[in-house]
Amino acid sequence: MHRARCALPLALFAALAAACTSAPDDLVGTWIPQDATAEILEREPGRVRVLVIRQGAGGELSGRLLIPTLAGMPISVRREGDRVQLALQMARGMEQPFAATMRDGQLIIGSPGEAAAPLRRVSPEEARLLDQLAPKRHPLPAVKALPANGLARTPPMGFSTWNHFATEIDDRTIREIADALVATGLRDAGYVHVNIDDGWQGARDASGELRPNEKFPDMPALADYLHQRGLKLGIYTSPGPKSCAGFAGSYGHEEQDARTFAAWGVDYVKYDWCSAGLIYDDAEMPAVYQKMAEALLATGRPMVFSICQYGRADVWKWGAAAGGNLWRTTGDIGDRWDVMSAIGFQQDELSPFAGPGQWNDPDMLEVGNGGMSTTEYRTHMTLWAMLAAPLIAGHDVRRSSPETIALLTNRAVIAIDQDPLGRAGRRVLQRGPLEVWTRPLDGGRTAVALFNRGEAPAEVVASLAELGLARGLSATDAWTGRSLGVIDERIAADVEPHGSVLLVLAPVGDAPSGSAGR
Ligand code: GLA
Repeated sequence: MHRARCALPLALFAALAAACTSAPDDLVGTWIPQDATAEILEREPGRVRVLVIRQGAGGELSGRLLIPTLAGMPISVRREGDRVQLALQMARGMEQPFAATMRDGQLIIGSPGEAAAPLRRVSPEEARLLDQLAPKRHPLPAVKALPANGLARTPPMGFSTWNHFATEIDDRTIREIADALVATGLRDAGYVHVNIDDGWQGARDASGELRPNEKFPDMPALADYLHQRGLKLGIYTSPGPKSCAGFAGSYGHEEQDARTFAAWGVDYVKYDWCSAGLIYDDAEMPAVYQKMAEALLATGRPMVFSICQYGRADVWKWGAAAGGNLWRTTGDIGDRWDVMSAIGFQQDELSPFAGPGQWNDPDMLEVGNGGMSTTEYRTHMTLWAMLAAPLIAGHDVRRSSPETIALLTNRAVIAIDQDPLGRAGRRVLQRGPLEVWTRPLDGGRTAVALFNRGEAPAEVVASLAELGLARGLSATDAWTGRSLGVIDERIAADVEPHGSVLLVLAPVGDAPSGSAGR
């Protein structure tokens, strides 16, 4: 039985000391499924889910779910008598709750009426085995504020393989995408990063050098191909032993992999938490990301550093100091209105943390992937531009429709996203499903977005006073390029369901704030 340790002088504080030595909660310990055996643990550790519950100095319970090949995820633990409420903390604002009951020394997962999954405490022999199987810890650096690497002064723009191709990627597809970025005008509109996400990794050679898999025969040649076309190469890895799709991660090879990427000619590194939770706690994330950022800086090659840990541990507060140029603020986007809009409209309070060189990343674009209407994709772009979000296209660029290209390359919308002030927009009005956001732009201008998140057409109205703006501003519709004349009192527009209107307001007398070039 565990005993809480107590450093109080017992002779003086007998009563307090008695409290300190009281037995911990009987949930504390390591739990595995009832039917797991030491043999299964040894042979197929990836099959066994291990739940570790700890108790802090103040008596609070916390847990971690270890799924060896995938992840180690924090779990919040609340207990009332025999009933236990567990919630997997997957990403910012994304919890998966499940109920459990303590009965006869077993922890039974599942609400009454559901198929129950009984867990039992590990035996001392199994505990030793789990210990042996666990990756050995390497030291982490002392946390400090790294100097900015000077990159990404405006939000990165480019393409990533993940949203459309997942792990079905190869050298040829990347070259074809590069050609398509040039041919469609996306490159000239600013989409220059070509980011290979999960699925390129092979095995390490005898010297520990990470090799690409057979689908990527020559990374330096691929980098050259991109560079010759005015494009940049991005790559993906994880601080854990495995990436999220189960490929090799950089754990224990951080410096070596940074040098490899630099030697290949990589310009952008996405560092995805994935299985790092098997080794580290969320509280150690700043040191874990700093370690790779320092390794990248030490190569001398400029590489944009993209932090991906789903917005856990308030990353916006430490991401820049840890060397990040951008950090994901949410779980993964999906090509659906409900997922995209939930993610996008959840960003308001994070806006103060964005600025040149350091961006909130609400995840990559889904424009052109087919799961949303044109109106919804336009709202996706409007919202991402207002948020100063990275614009990383995620569709099969080789098969872009003219509509998709028009949505992605509208110069006035891109100019809002890329505004040099780098101040992200905020929600200023909300009336049911209708919202108005503003974003300060260079030259005393303001971007104003009117959103209708509802299911019926609606007029969205806002007075200049409500928006905190002076009277007498000239307005231009960013999407159409149409000048709307001088606004003295209020803005009003009919907005279709799931639609948006994006305006640029400028002090009267200024040149028009940008036309809607296609
Ligand atoms: C995680 C990330 C995604 C993508 C996949 C790859 O889910 O959040 O953006 O990189 O891993 O496996």
